[in-house]
Amino acid sequence: MVRRFSIQLFAVFIASFMMVSLVKAGEVEVLHWWTSGGEAKSVAVLKGLLEKEGHVWKDMAVAGGAGANAMTVLKTRAVSGNPPTAAQVKGPQIQDWADEGLLTNLDPVAKQEKWDDMVPKVVADIMKYEGHYVAVPVNVHRINWMWCNPEVFKKAGAQIPKTWEEFEASAKKIKEAGFIPVAFGGQAWQEATVFESIVVGQGGAEFYKKAFVDVDPKALNSSTMIKALDTFKMVKSYTDKDAPGRDWNLATGMVIKGDAAMQFMGDWAKGEFLAAGKKPGEDFVAMPVPESAGTFLFNIDSFIMFEVKDKESQKAQSAMARLILGETFQEVFNVNKGSIPVRSGIPTANFDSVALQSMDDFKEAAAKGTLHPSMAHEMAVSPAVRGAFFDVITNFYNSNMTAEKAAAEFVNAAAAAM
Ligand code: BGC
Repeated sequence: MVRRFSIQLFAVFIASFMMVSLVKAGEVEVLHWWTSGGEAKSVAVLKGLLEKEGHVWKDMAVAGGAGANAMTVLKTRAVSGNPPTAAQVKGPQIQDWADEGLLTNLDPVAKQEKWDDMVPKVVADIMKYEGHYVAVPVNVHRINWMWCNPEVFKKAGAQIPKTWEEFEASAKKIKEAGFIPVAFGGQAWQEATVFESIVVGQGGAEFYKKAFVDVDPKALNSSTMIKALDTFKMVKSYTDKDAPGRDWNLATGMVIKGDAAMQFMGDWAKGEFLAAGKKPGEDFVAMPVPESAGTFLFNIDSFIMFEVKDKESQKAQSAMARLILGETFQEVFNVNKGSIPVRSGIPTANFDSVALQSMDDFKEAAAKGTLHPSMAHEMAVSPAVRGAFFDVITNFYNSNMTAEKAAAEFVNAAAAAM
């Protein structure tokens, strides 16, 4: 009897010890939207690295391309006083969150790891609030890419296009051969992604900047913008009837399978090709969106960290920040994700030809002044102005609105949002 009692007591003791040690392990709850095949494989690298250091990763993945759903969840959590430890947030929104006074100052880890020496100043400035790091950058994505299935082009006797004229000629042939020329997902963010790439292609880097970074009314309501809007509708005529609502990775899947010839999408699409075991240059070809070769529209993923009281969680949080800019993560994550490292000093041997081209193009565009932030991916304007642009783009794309009316609407909508 006594013996049984002491065994029970021992069990209780062990159980409570285990609970204490569970609570003691530093935990990071990470809100992100990386749920597609390529994305999930990439983010798993960070989880693994943190767990290796003895921390606990609590996954808070919210599906939905470009993070619209994730941002809604984040706001709800923050408003109810229960934000996650870390959240995937980009561009000017970082400043808005810092303004609320909820973010952890990451300067100690930034100093220790010498972030200022390895991250370009333009990137560091986006991550800092009043001179202090409040976010950690993850990668650099390029938006204005076109992903092609060369086999489909070959079967249709069509060429991979470099101009919009060539695009139309090829798209006609592909359609006649019974394939879908453009794999498209009719969601506001995807429409904006494709449209801004067309704008940069047809108007050039300088025009893009005036319209979608500087919000210049003369550029927004101009003949160049009207031409880009008309091209956008022309591209629509080469998409299939099931495009509305389709997720971006399903559209990529159509190109992978050979049902469609091409997709206009940022280089996270490459992550899907790679996850499906496809080889760049053989099974798929990446080219800049027609006429946009010299321009690099960029998008930088980053994490903000919310203040946590518990010491162990603070340690886990700072470990996460350190690991994100660490060599192992920068290499393995970016190889899988389709992006390129955001810091210097990462060996390039394991990166494929598309990534190497992206690295070269990034440097060249930075030197030439044709490196611009993506409007569609939250890097260029405030969330309100971006929302106003999205409304015009989506209304135009999904109605009979004329290009002239849409161009005028850009000016009105932006003014109302500013
Ligand atoms: C993010 C990428 C992500 C993509 C699709 C972009 O806004 O920067 O990391 O893969 O959206 O969800």
